[in-house]
Amino acid sequence: MGLATGLGFAHAGVRVVGYEVRADVRLALARGRTTIHEPGLPALLRQEVESGRFRLVPTWDELVEQSEVVFLCLPTPRRADGRIDLRPMEQGVRELGQALKKSRRAHLVVVKSTVVPGTTEGLVRPLLERVARTGAPRLTVAANPEFLAEGSMVRDVLRPERVVVGVTSTQDERRLRAIYRGIPSPVIVLSPTGAELVKYASNAFLALKVSFVNEVARFAEAVGSDVDAVAAAVGRDSRIGSKFLSAGPGFGGSCFEKDVRALVARGHDLGLRPRLLESLVPSNEDQTRHAFAVIGRAVGPLRGRRVAVLGLAFKAGTDDVRESRALPLVTAALRAGAEVRLHDPVALENFRRAIQSPSGRVPRRLRFCERPSEAVRGADVAVVQAAWPEYRRFPPAWTRSMRSPTVVDLRRALPEAVRRRPDLRWIGLGTASAGENRPSTRGRRRRRGRP
Ligand code: UDX
Repeated sequence: MGLATGLGFAHAGVRVVGYEVRADVRLALARGRTTIHEPGLPALLRQEVESGRFRLVPTWDELVEQSEVVFLCLPTPRRADGRIDLRPMEQGVRELGQALKKSRRAHLVVVKSTVVPGTTEGLVRPLLERVARTGAPRLTVAANPEFLAEGSMVRDVLRPERVVVGVTSTQDERRLRAIYRGIPSPVIVLSPTGAELVKYASNAFLALKVSFVNEVARFAEAVGSDVDAVAAAVGRDSRIGSKFLSAGPGFGGSCFEKDVRALVARGHDLGLRPRLLESLVPSNEDQTRHAFAVIGRAVGPLRGRRVAVLGLAFKAGTDDVRESRALPLVTAALRAGAEVRLHDPVALENFRRAIQSPSGRVPRRLRFCERPSEAVRGADVAVVQAAWPEYRRFPPAWTRSMRSPTVVDLRRALPEAVRRRPDLRWIGLGTASAGENRPSTRGRRRRRGRP
């Protein structure tokens, strides 16, 4: 997020210096490489390094000496109790404070990280002031949450739908507006706490939309309808909107679950009872269990069966596996006694790291495949977990190589023409095909070597 944000500013004509706290990432960036799969990001990095507007510095001191506004893009991982872990943030703020103490320049410190309402003013400001031994007007703080999504980071930073800044003075507002001048977007001004709440409210609403359509998908299956057709009609009401109404195995990613949990916990701390928000994570977990049940219904008991899971990232377009629904699905399939073969065009290594034991052991009956054709060979069912384009065609050679040509399409990624092909049995989550299917032997007629 920090890299994309910095490059976005550079692209808009702002001179940017960047400091990365992680040594391995720092090294990669110094060599012009990015450490995540993000379309367009390496090219933007090259372009802005060449333009001279984006430079990396090796220390906090240099960062502070060469800047007037510092954007903090530090991680806020989730804690077991649902709250966010503010230790990396505090650590960064302390180190920044030390550097600010030595500097004679005035600074505006802007929190870009997702932090619960009240953090910028209640924690960042006092901690910074204490460590830097100074306060306003030499040191002021603001919040400026980031709304970029993985897979579309570059577009999101260059052309955001809105920029939200939380400031305590018109002077800071002016400074932030000046930085965003080259970015074609409305700037919405609130207090720091209000800006922080916008971020949580936005992610919670998006998670709510996804969970909502996932529940509609369960209805669609039960009544024999098609969730996409229903969602398309529902979404035509502009009050509802058509985006984020695509049913799937449940939302994943580093933000939705973490943010919803943190908002709920913050609500409880404030004496609130946010029942809608409280229901989101349980509804999402239900949906993943439901997706697993759809697989079970399609092939019957999984013991001894071979399951191919296509797409391991939390969505197509990224190599991020954090909270990917592939994790609980694969774990459940292994527990049920299945043999599981995995493919993802870019997330295979991240998934291996996520599923292996601390000592590096990978569960037995699990195989990582470089090609989808290898993953589906001999499988009783292929499960499309992330809608990567390479799965859409599902070529006949793949179905021929399967023990049973059953495809459970959790994202309805395969186009109509493929779904209707006689050489495969297509079961789409949220469609009648997923509701009616009971353990069947139909697909198994095509066992290899048998007519
Ligand atoms: C999200 C927000 O979109 C972004 O604005 C915020 O800054 C960070 O969190 P991201 O986590 O990258 O971004 O992914 P997003 O595209 O929002 O998807 C989250 C999850 O919801 C994915 O697992 C995705 O597959 C799922 N999803 C999304 C659906 O199942 N259906 C949809 O219609 C949309």
